[in-house]
Amino acid sequence: MMVPATSAAPQSGAHDKVPLLELEHLQMLFPARAAAFGGKRGHVHAVDDVSLALAEGETLGLVGESGCGKTTLARCAVRLLAPTAGKVRFRGADITSLGPRAMRPYRKHMQIVFQDPQGSLNPRKRVRQIIGAALELSAGGSGDDRLRMLLDQVGLNPEHANRFPHEFSGGQRQRIGVARALAVDPQLIVLDEPVSALDVSIQAQVVNLLDDLQDEFGLSYIFVAHDLSVVRHVSDRIAVMYLGKVVELSPAEELYRRPVHPYTLGLLGSIPIPDPVVSRSRPRQLPRGELPSPIDPPAGCRFHTRCPGATDICREVEPPLTLYPGGHEAACHHPLNVSSSDIAGAVRSPAASRSSGSVVPVPPGG
Ligand SMILES: Nc1ncnc2c1ncn2[C@@H]1O[C@H](COP(=O)(O)OP(=O)(O)O)[C@@H](O)[C@H]1O
Ligand code: SF4
Ligand SMILES: [Mg+2]
Repeated sequence: MMVPATSAAPQSGAHDKVPLLELEHLQMLFPARAAAFGGKRGHVHAVDDVSLALAEGETLGLVGESGCGKTTLARCAVRLLAPTAGKVRFRGADITSLGPRAMRPYRKHMQIVFQDPQGSLNPRKRVRQIIGAALELSAGGSGDDRLRMLLDQVGLNPEHANRFPHEFSGGQRQRIGVARALAVDPQLIVLDEPVSALDVSIQAQVVNLLDDLQDEFGLSYIFVAHDLSVVRHVSDRIAVMYLGKVVELSPAEELYRRPVHPYTLGLLGSIPIPDPVVSRSRPRQLPRGELPSPIDPPAGCRFHTRCPGATDICREVEPPLTLYPGGHEAACHHPLNVSSSDIAGAVRSPAASRSSGSVVPVPPGG
């Protein structure tokens, strides 16, 4: 269906200081399926008090092992899920509780590309219909020219328009998923492990395509991956999640050069650290053992059951997300690779300490 040009969703350009997307103290609890967790009743703490902001044109990498809450966070961010608590703001407007009708003007600004291109494309529809349905939402027209242009932009041929999803390779199917997302002229695309299901040889091609499209269309991305290597070259900043929480948030290269949280170090494996100002020797083991149950997360620091550097305080007190000089945030009582002057200059993470409701929204259409 066509969305009126005078949609209620704020337009780009006028309020560049306001982040494109803000998540404030976001929490998503799912009722626990008792059998899956040894008969315990309760809630899965899939996302637990996460605060993040995404600037216009920025790529935020979101990384953590399977089950840590990345997909749930991604779905809350584009309001495919309504969070249990916290706020979701798009250009300053609170969209946390909007129903399907009120969300409609926002839908064309925020798109999601799923991990499994096979499962997310209707097998009975031709590419022309799959992308055509999305094109009808866009202001740019739904004609054949537009369809051809989109196919070209994602590296497919015009004759592909008449084929069904099963006639394509995995990489090509993901290109169709990207074309469908692009069709509505979005500002934000959440990429939920867009290359995880693809052969390694194809992954770089799709990542490079996404990178090129971002430059061409000024897109903002949340790029989800379970592996830090995938997001390294495309991310401006990277957030590392563990058991529903963001445990580290940093400019991308800084994270690889100077991981502060032991979990991040574990994800990275052993890497040389050239920085001479190191406050303490660091544990070098990869995280061992299973992810604990998100129904009954460990007290204190959630990583303490697997952390080689855990002490008594880690088992009792949850470490707050702390901002170190240089823009690097981490939640750890015994941070790695920080100097004593870094510790002296550290403050509570501004995003995490902001209370919900303190952001002044941009008036609709402003
Ligand atoms: N609809 C749901 N109902 C119950 N539990 C869910 C649901 N979706 C996700 N979960 C649980 O929430 C946690 C986080 O899942 P998910 O967000 O998919 O993690 P990731 O994408 O990082 O693998 C997991 O324990 C998962 O089993
Ligand atoms: S707070 Fe303690 S248990 Fe948690 S990551 Fe830091 S050192 Fe490890
Ligand atoms: Mg996932």
